[in-house]
Amino acid sequence: MLPIHVSLLIHFIGLGMIFTTIFAGWILTGQYKRAKEWSAKTLHIKSLRAIGLLSPIGVLVMLLSGIGNMTLGPRPYTLFSDAWLSTKLILFVILAATGVIFGARGGRRNKLVHRIAAGTAPEGAEQAVRALDRQQRWFYILELVLLLIILVLSIVKPT
Ligand code: HEM
Repeated sequence: MLPIHVSLLIHFIGLGMIFTTIFAGWILTGQYKRAKEWSAKTLHIKSLRAIGLLSPIGVLVMLLSGIGNMTLGPRPYTLFSDAWLSTKLILFVILAATGVIFGARGGRRNKLVHRIAAGTAPEGAEQAVRALDRQQRWFYILELVLLLIILVLSIVKPT
């Protein structure tokens, strides 16, 4: 097996990790939203946090193996050699950046839910949680759309 094959293999493993974190996050968010009691919501949040910690690992694996794919193949790529790759990289940066932004907002929501469950939340905390919940929904849709566009670009490689 050539180094480029190893790099591609790791790239596909990273792809699986990213898809898993998005789908698992989506399913767990659904369970969290359906839970009636705030104490039950805190339990779902614990699982969501574990999944959330996995996503930066997936992003890092994609980045490192992607650099491997660019440099180890028979025809080396550069940042601007292929339009599909340049577009993919821009979308990848957006994907990672929105992940960081919404990850931080998710963390804020989690803290509020814990405080509501403990009875120590400030006034208006429940509305704030509901607003952050709605944002998280859009976040999952955005991440999935970005990921699908990146995937199609990588497979079709339009010039
Ligand atoms: C979520 C992000 C990403 C996804 C979903 C993704 C997906 C894929 C897929 C499915 C392939 C295989 C295409 C094929 O074998 O025909 C591929 C190849 C490749 N990817 Fe990515 N990738 C991502 C991120 C990156 C990044 C960050 C880089 C660069 C730093 C990169 C660079 C490459 C290169 C150079 C190839 C090899 C193309 C070839 O010569 O066949 N990818 N990617």
